[in-house]
Amino acid sequence: MSIIIKHGYFINPSDNTSAPRDLLIEKGKVAEIGTGLTGDEVLDASGCVVCPGFVDIHCHFREPGFESKETIATGSRAAARGGVTTVVTMANTSPAIDNAGLVELVIRRASAEACINVLPAACATKGLSGTEITEMADLKAAGAVAVTDDGHDISSSKLMRHVLEYANMVGIPFLSHCEDEQLAAGGSMNEGYMATLLGIPGIPKAAEEIRIDRNIRLAELAGAHIHIQHVTTAGGVDIIRQAKKRGARVTAESAPHYFSLTEDAVSGFNTNAKMNPPLREKEDVQAIIEGFRDGTLDCIATDHAPHTPTEKRVEFTDAPFGIVGLETSLALTITHLVKPGHISLEHAIRLLSLGGARACQIDAGSLHIGAGADIAIFDPEASWTVNTLEFASKSRNSPFLGQTLQGRVMYTLHNGKIVYNATQ
Ligand code: DOR
Ligand code: ZN
Repeated sequence: MSIIIKHGYFINPSDNTSAPRDLLIEKGKVAEIGTGLTGDEVLDASGCVVCPGFVDIHCHFREPGFESKETIATGSRAAARGGVTTVVTMANTSPAIDNAGLVELVIRRASAEACINVLPAACATKGLSGTEITEMADLKAAGAVAVTDDGHDISSSKLMRHVLEYANMVGIPFLSHCEDEQLAAGGSMNEGYMATLLGIPGIPKAAEEIRIDRNIRLAELAGAHIHIQHVTTAGGVDIIRQAKKRGARVTAESAPHYFSLTEDAVSGFNTNAKMNPPLREKEDVQAIIEGFRDGTLDCIATDHAPHTPTEKRVEFTDAPFGIVGLETSLALTITHLVKPGHISLEHAIRLLSLGGARACQIDAGSLHIGAGADIAIFDPEASWTVNTLEFASKSRNSPFLGQTLQGRVMYTLHNGKIVYNATQ
């Protein structure tokens, strides 16, 4: 049976299409794109944008080991609710994903339980120890799409250089969490006015910027591509901008919370506004937005980091770092980037789909004839109020609870199958 998506506005960043189009899906693939098409089952996309399913290259699905926070099944349902059809999952599970058997475990569970495409990243160093490089060729052969020690940086510059050289040789992307952990040690939020006011130990921006600079320079030395994760500071954006100008092979992401919130969200000791790197200041938010505008930042990735209510219901300094993001990503992007006129809707869709796919060299984020029918259909005008009890994620740790946002996912399709339907 074929599906025909009718009356929608089609935006496809890979060929810059932005026009009213129907999409015909047959056998899970895009069969035809045009006007006046017919098919068996009609999906009415009136008033909606039809675009590639989103690609989120920074998600923590917590399996194996931390299933009380999230599982591959619940995380993938949260993704589907957010219009996301491909995720790259981080390796800081328990045990950490540092051998081929564990990569295979995640892939097996994903194929049994996930309603979207779940692609595992594996560790760059064994047990995220920062001391011994993993067998990246084996990890890649087992299906890992990237290597990363996310959650940690690699403190030895020499080892980092070798990690980059090896990843480059194997041809696997390296995703870089940039943090001088000695400088950041003991901090729980951005170092500055609000931290002083609240009496919370701070994390200086330099802890991130020093390592963005070092890690890019080591990638240049290794002749490798490096992808910088969760950029939060004006200085960090500028370091990446300069590196791109001199020809470094660097891509970078930031997360919706870094362009929609400042450190002020921590006031009231809200542990759902605690993440690493932390929320920064107004000038940083402006610089992140400019980074998206001028192409310094290539994609939006959520750093979806679920933690249970019990873990978060503690003193601010004791709470774990991280917030969920999959179910609010599109709406925050429309509300804070598109609606105020910072970027076009087309650019936003590129940042949410093709940008991440290209940074990770994943075949996704494009709707052309023959491509898998991974599709997001959303109403860019519809407003809704964030109610974390409605989340498909196992966790509720969102600082956006109660906020009214614009842009609502109506349907998500993965391989031509409806995996989320807001009208049901
Ligand atoms: O806030 C964060 N949470 N930052 C990280 O780097 C790790 C993540 C997690 O795993 O919870
Ligand atoms: Zn990280």
